[in-house]
Amino acid sequence: MNIAIFFGTETGNAEMLAEDIATELEDQHETTVANLADSAPEALQVADLNVIVCSSYDDGDLPASAKPFVERVQSEMPDLTGVRFAIFGLGDSEYAETYGFGSMKLAELLVSRGAQALGERPVHDAAGDELPEDMAMPWLLEIIEAADA
Ligand SMILES: Cc1cc2nc3c(=O)[nH]c(=O)nc-3n(C[C@H](O)[C@H](O)[C@H](O)COP(=O)(O)O)c2cc1C
Repeated sequence: MNIAIFFGTETGNAEMLAEDIATELEDQHETTVANLADSAPEALQVADLNVIVCSSYDDGDLPASAKPFVERVQSEMPDLTGVRFAIFGLGDSEYAETYGFGSMKLAELLVSRGAQALGERPVHDAAGDELPEDMAMPWLLEIIEAADA
């Protein structure tokens, strides 16, 4: 399967997780990794499945590297019908009122343009003990299996 992995980050955690996911998948799938900051909305229309890793910043805002992408989607209003994506959030439960809001806002925007969200949207808690990849890989393998069927 062609799997495009995108990350939206402020301080690099989402990029590290995106690279880890690509490493885990590369034996069985063709993968690419890209910063949302360098991606046009049409980049979502290439692969069979898009995996997006996105953190949250400043009162539940999008991280800096996701902002230009979101602004392009909002201004260009692309039709994303047929696009499939799975999104994984990075957050911190210390920010209780805006926990995981960055990934939530991005997911809602893509769905509003017609894209299909696969699976649930987990949020890794930076205040917890679990490693992001330990949480992301079982979640993603289940989605890939279902998407491949
Ligand atoms: C100044 C600041 C603001 C943050 N705001 C939020 C927030 O509103 N909601 C949330 O869930 N996490 C928030 N976080 C936690 C980050 O999303 C979390 O640390 C994440 O792992 C960062 O990933 P990144 O390095 O890819 O940006 C914040 C972190 C900092 C330092």
